Amino acid sequence: MRSARKLEVKTPEQLRVMRRAGLVVAAALNRIAQSVQPGITTADLDAIAVSVLRENDAAPSFLGYHGYPAVVCVSVNDEVVHGIPGPRTLHDGDIVSIDFGAIVTDNRGQGWHGDAAVTVFVGEASAEDAALSDVTRSALWAGLAAAQAGGRLSDIGAAVEGVVRAAPHPYGILADYTGHGIGTQMHLPPSVENFGPAGRGPVLQPGLALAVEPMVTIGSPDTDVLEDDWTVVTQDGSRACHWEHTVAVTSEGPWVLTEPDGGAAMFAAMGVDSPAASRD
Ligand code: MF3
Ligand code: CO
Repeated sequence: MRSARKLEVKTPEQLRVMRRAGLVVAAALNRIAQSVQPGITTADLDAIAVSVLRENDAAPSFLGYHGYPAVVCVSVNDEVVHGIPGPRTLHDGDIVSIDFGAIVTDNRGQGWHGDAAVTVFVGEASAEDAALSDVTRSALWAGLAAAQAGGRLSDIGAAVEGVVRAAPHPYGILADYTGHGIGTQMHLPPSVENFGPAGRGPVLQPGLALAVEPMVTIGSPDTDVLEDDWTVVTQDGSRACHWEHTVAVTSEGPWVLTEPDGGAAMFAAMGVDSPAASRD
């Protein structure tokens, strides 16, 4: 479908504020990932994010968003995304996706969002789960690398899908949930699909910021939403994985705002030239 809506183009100064939000998100996800261990509750992980927000004078993106009741999403095993933190205890062998968004306000009072997700394991990962997370993360980075000025939006989804389809296992890719534009709001147009042919959709221009977020399952990609109206689970009970970053399109290549090094190390390893990734 073609959208005539105008995309929000950020100035370099505005991207720098989004970078601050991205670093808050990275710090929180890093601290949460380090804290994941058997016996911790998903609510404990939410509390860690609250502390990081306080320390950085930042605000949560998710809390109150369409009534969402928490600061992070914690999705365990067959939960794909939007799991609500609570008294649930994590156990050895669980695969856990943590999704977090933060808002940093500029000197005009305008808030700017960052949004990212990681998948971690409690204790040792099975080979199957480790492969799922590896392919999802590689697909994410292929998508981020495709966020090139002058390219087209669907180049990102095509890159994501290409990595998932190249794997020896027939993984599922969620179609009902997508990435999104991001900036003054967490969710802005355009939707960023995780599949499809390249070369379609809007031309990517410097100043666009996108959240790229592949959601991949070991089995079928069909999902249900639980009674809590949020938690997205696989219909077949298969395990799922979610990795996400916020990336800015610049004239010097993609800048991964929610990665502490801007994506420099990963892009270098991939052979992707992106001077923008080495900013700050
Ligand atoms: N990263 C998720 C997304 O982009 C976060 C949304 S959770 C919500 O859709 F609770 F805020 F909706
Ligand atoms: Co998102």
